Amino acid sequence: MSTVTSIADVGTLARAGRIALPLLDWATSRLSVDSARLEKLVTRVEPTLSLRNVRARVVGIHLETHDTKTYVLKPNGRFRGFRPGAFLSLRVVIDGEPVVRSYSISSGPASSGLVAITVKRVDGGAVSNWLFENLAVGDVVEIGQAQGQFVLPEVVPARILMISAGSGVTPVMAMLRHVTQLAARPRTTFLHFARSPKDVIFGDETAQIAARSSSVDVTVCVENADSSWTGPRGRFSADLLEEVAPDFREIPIYLCGPAPFMAAVIKALEEAGCDLAHLRYEQFTAGVDVSRLLTTSSLLRFTRSGVETVVSKQRTILEEAEARGLRPEHGCRMGVCGSCRCTKNSGIVIDVTTGLESGEGAESIRPCISIAKGTVSVDL
Ligand SMILES: Cc1cc2nc3c(=O)[nH]c(=O)nc-3n(C[C@H](O)[C@H](O)[C@H](O)COP(=O)(O)OP(=O)(O)OC[C@H]3O[C@@H](n4cnc5c(N)ncnc54)[C@H](O)[C@@H]3O)c2cc1C
Ligand code: FES
Repeated sequence: MSTVTSIADVGTLARAGRIALPLLDWATSRLSVDSARLEKLVTRVEPTLSLRNVRARVVGIHLETHDTKTYVLKPNGRFRGFRPGAFLSLRVVIDGEPVVRSYSISSGPASSGLVAITVKRVDGGAVSNWLFENLAVGDVVEIGQAQGQFVLPEVVPARILMISAGSGVTPVMAMLRHVTQLAARPRTTFLHFARSPKDVIFGDETAQIAARSSSVDVTVCVENADSSWTGPRGRFSADLLEEVAPDFREIPIYLCGPAPFMAAVIKALEEAGCDLAHLRYEQFTAGVDVSRLLTTSSLLRFTRSGVETVVSKQRTILEEAEARGLRPEHGCRMGVCGSCRCTKNSGIVIDVTTGLESGEGAESIRPCISIAKGTVSVDL
């Protein structure tokens, strides 16, 4: 067995083919190496290289609106691609602390190895504002593999309705870009809501798509606008839906936007007698009231950090850990990205999204959507 000992060895490995990942995999499987050390050496030689992680270089940044930017990323060879509608976890280091957030991919899958995310600044938000102010072309970030169930099927239906609001446009934009590249284009209705014309993300591109494609209808509705706005105004309404897609009861619907908007759309669909089996949706923020699930106090032990606490306010395990000064990794805080996963050693937890109780033994849990029932010990 050979041993990789110096940065020069790693440099040789990396340079031996700029498509160095297969070589790196071979080296780590055949040579006697300390993988943590090799990972550090490798990223010093080429920041996008990694033994196991997907790293991506920022190759473009576009200002979409006054508060939203698209970041175009070129991932290393470990990225396995994506289906339109999927999201990924983005990990950046802010003030020395690694932070993870989930972002839908806004580009279509046929974007020549590139992947774009489009991020709207959130008031007081840590990551969205940091990205807007700091991320620059040439920087390298870590991303996860694409994931999520809110994706177009392999065989795209012949008729689709897409409804979005605000930054919820991002996954449906990936879908729209994809369907317009298909040989057999589905008849697509795209209905988007924004606060005002200046808040409409991808407004020019969707208008251009509608102008050149007879299979796509685009309607943008804003709440506030001056007299120059010629499109519809106001919030989502069943009347507008009837007008733009009178067949909405029978066709697949893809919905994404802020929680209150989605609740209003789903209520309107139900009231209109729509079969909700046709509905696919993605939520960017959680809206769960955990206090309704438990009324008694519980004892939580964080075994790795040696912290023990009585939980009386029925916070999720993630919130309780943070309240005790721990900094567990997390992303979406709503059970979808998996970045908070950790081991529950013992005790019962309740999944706040389903109300279901776990078993008592050791198992993997998502602390962002779990609350403790009784005495629970978690490896955090
Ligand atoms: C599947 C998925 C896909 C997504 N796709 C996109 C996308 O394509 N584009 C996009 O823009 N977003 C997307 N999001 C949302 C994104 O993940 C982030 O939630 C968003 O960018 C805000 O992150 P942040 O770090 O800026 O805000 P955070 O720091 O997480 O803060 C969020 C809110 O909580 C408040 N807050 C923070 N800390 C506290 C505190 N201690 N006390 C009280 N309030 C507090 C903030 O003021 C802010 O209003 C997606 C989310 C999911 C789950
Ligand atoms: S933070 Fe995403 S699953 Fe828990």
